[in-house]
Amino acid sequence: MADTKKSQHGEWSSRFAFILAATGSAVGLGNIWKFPYITGENGGGAFVIVYLLCVLLIGIPIMMAETLLGRRSRQNPISTMITLSDEAGADKNWHYLGWMGVTAGFLILSYYSVIAGWASAYVVKAFSGSFLGADASSIKVLFDDFVGSPIKLLFWHTLFMLATMLIVVRGVNTGLEKAVRFLMPSLFVLLMLMVAYAMTFDEYYDKGIKFLFTPDFSKITADGVLTAMGHAFFTLSLGMGAIMVYGSYLPKDVSIAKTVYWIAGTDTVVALLAGIAIFPIVFANGLEPAAGPGLIFQTLPIAFGNMTGGWLFGILFFVMLVFAALSSSISLIEPAVAWLIENKNMSREQACIWSGSVTWLMGFGVVFSFNIWSELKIFDRTIFQLLDYLTANLMLPIGGFCIAVFAGWIMKQQHTEQELNMPNPLGYQIWKILISYVSPAAVFLVFLHVVGVL
Ligand code: PFF
Repeated sequence: MADTKKSQHGEWSSRFAFILAATGSAVGLGNIWKFPYITGENGGGAFVIVYLLCVLLIGIPIMMAETLLGRRSRQNPISTMITLSDEAGADKNWHYLGWMGVTAGFLILSYYSVIAGWASAYVVKAFSGSFLGADASSIKVLFDDFVGSPIKLLFWHTLFMLATMLIVVRGVNTGLEKAVRFLMPSLFVLLMLMVAYAMTFDEYYDKGIKFLFTPDFSKITADGVLTAMGHAFFTLSLGMGAIMVYGSYLPKDVSIAKTVYWIAGTDTVVALLAGIAIFPIVFANGLEPAAGPGLIFQTLPIAFGNMTGGWLFGILFFVMLVFAALSSSISLIEPAVAWLIENKNMSREQACIWSGSVTWLMGFGVVFSFNIWSELKIFDRTIFQLLDYLTANLMLPIGGFCIAVFAGWIMKQQHTEQELNMPNPLGYQIWKILISYVSPAAVFLVFLHVVGVL
């Protein structure tokens, strides 16, 4: 079946194009905005170790599984689950997994776009010189004023959603691929520059490194372990079909394993670099590592305001962050768009307008949760916190668990083997053990730990 099949949306022009796009999906706000603040909230080193273990034992095998599922069926995640469960002679109910993925994409994008809007606003702030000579307290006032304004947040959220839709409208080759080609290398260079700046803080640099890499397991709670695992899924774009849909545009002869190592490796390095750049600034300025979602917006501007060339670097950095967010947001909406086109007979334009408008409207709740509805708590969480918890900590790991079970237990071994086509049979055996036992068991144990059974 899979040998001749191609996606109706087109294909990546090469393996490199897929790597760029999937890395573009993986590297985003999760690495630069979320990783540092959740590491700060969960006490540092121990959290980082749990996160790294999750990437290795759960993330990488599941990313390989998602890619192979997508490439085998060459359809959106919902139809993929229908086609492949048919092929395996399994229950049709597996397609609910696709539905959960598409829903998770919408929910994530509704807050992702709001935060990407913050980054966009910070490009303008950097340009207008708002950070020049600033100290920690003036930067905090700037941030609090900004997130306190629903109008400003709505404006930037709207702009970001429009930009996302504009790229997605242009389709696989013209839109998605071109957009990510220049972003990743430039972001990398800028992060290295920030790390070099952080090194000038000497003892605070050491303190930052110690905070990140010296584990103190007494500091991590069961919920912290869940957050670390959830983040492994979030940062690698797993558990909701984004990588599956990108996999469906992947040419047949490309090695999935090698490609996945590359993507996961780059994603992890970017997150660690962001942490190394940020924590020395946190400590040098007496800031709180557990400051929450505002962490990078309250730390990096201090650096830009006081370093040589900071005006230019500040602009470049936030521009890159917006682009990194864009290359992720397009993958959050692509599963829904592909489904609407394939099943509802919509044109790409119509599909984008529909899915974009729904996400945009949902973003209003998130915007208000930072200001006029900040007191509104559901299960003890603001709307933003609830959406984040629901998606990253629950939906993505549950989605990933099911994908692992599907690839490890439901699909015929011959099919997964053929699709992965690894030159070394041992490589396949290791993947098979990880995907069938280790990854699902690890997700399950973390859930048991959180509900207090373990
Ligand atoms: N991986 C992205 C990030 O780290 O910013 C976020 C993301 C994109 C999550 C796509 C899930 C997804 F399907």
